[in-house]
Amino acid sequence: MIARQDVQEIFPTPLWIVDLEAAAAQTLNAALRAEIERLIAPKPKLAPGSSWQTAQDLHRKPAFAEFAKLVLMAARGVQRFLKVDQYTMAITGCWANVNPPGAYHLMHHHPNNYLSGVYYVAIPKAGSRIVFQDPRPQASMIMPKPSAYSRLTANAADAECREGRMVLFPAWLKHTVPTNVGDSDRVSIAFNLMFEDFTEKMSPPLWEGNMARGG
Ligand SMILES: [Fe+2]
Repeated sequence: MIARQDVQEIFPTPLWIVDLEAAAAQTLNAALRAEIERLIAPKPKLAPGSSWQTAQDLHRKPAFAEFAKLVLMAARGVQRFLKVDQYTMAITGCWANVNPPGAYHLMHHHPNNYLSGVYYVAIPKAGSRIVFQDPRPQASMIMPKPSAYSRLTANAADAECREGRMVLFPAWLKHTVPTNVGDSDRVSIAFNLMFEDFTEKMSPPLWEGNMARGG
């Protein structure tokens, strides 16, 4: 009797993975790493599990100008994909994280921004992942254990961190960085983006009022 049974995946959550050309990434990463090390020197002693972090204005520093350009280019790609490239985006914050072995980041999101992302400058040989939480908390209310987890039944999803890779995601998407289990530092640059003219062009009501009818 059933002619067809189809699935539509509604309300998908996108992650954008942008990989640089290997040779270009190597050169860029060497320069970025040297500058980051310079900015955090002398390294203060850390509590177990924590990381060194730079100030959040790297996008305004000449040494990070090429990197900021790359971020805006990748964001442009995201905007084209979402068909919102008629608006200009700006980087609102950009900082580097140096996670020594044993460091981790608890679950968080990036309020007051539209897009967030992270670029990997150095990854330990043991590898590293970034873990995203299902943004629908109610979806894990009833969780029958499936014979095999898929992206339709898992309540978290991860992406592989690779040197020269940028991962972009909606700023509201909660994520964690698991413990660095490698034996070298994990170096990344995080950033946020927002629409430059949000208050002028986007936040006014989407509908038009009718004063004549007292609307
Ligand atoms: Fe983050």
